[in-house]
Amino acid sequence: MDNITNSFEETRKLGEEFARSHLARLKYGVIALYGDLGSGKTTFVQGLAKGLGIKRRIISPTFIIVRNYKLEVGSFYHIDLYRIQNEKDIESLGIEEIIKNPENIVAIEWAEKMGNLLPKKRWNIKFEYLDEDKRRITIVSS
Ligand SMILES: Nc1ncnc2c1ncn2[C@@H]1O[C@H](COP(=O)(O)OP(=O)(O)OP(=O)(O)O)[C@@H](O)[C@H]1O
Ligand SMILES: [Mg+2]
Repeated sequence: MDNITNSFEETRKLGEEFARSHLARLKYGVIALYGDLGSGKTTFVQGLAKGLGIKRRIISPTFIIVRNYKLEVGSFYHIDLYRIQNEKDIESLGIEEIIKNPENIVAIEWAEKMGNLLPKKRWNIKFEYLDEDKRRITIVSS
């Protein structure tokens, strides 16, 4: 599914709608987010969290790589691998265990750094910068 958004609000809304239509029913899932710095990944995750009923504000992680938000069942995890160097770091953060728990919903920025540790069944969301306020956001399930 191809979407063009014209503001950060629209991207946030898209994340919220995605959560409501796809995540509530599934109850779990891994969402792999791909795209350059400032392409809108965190903005989308803010919408995701809202759609999942999370009231706490989602902020762009600076040094914290893994953040946990309690859901009615399980947790929502926001993971940002920007600063990760190798798969050893991923192992030490316990990310594989987080993903394995079917009660968790896990959104991962810079998901390409997971290599083949990413589960085969997941959502892939690609963010492309078109101009200052315009992004192309492609959502595909695998
Ligand atoms: N259509 C749009 N969608 C999303 N963000 C937009 C859009 N137009 C402008 N912006 C701005 O672009 C920036 C996107 O930042 P955001 O933190 O979401 O990117 P990111 O992909 O998470 O970057 P990083 O890789 O650094 O974590 C914000 O400042 C936001 O206001
Ligand atoms: Mg980000």
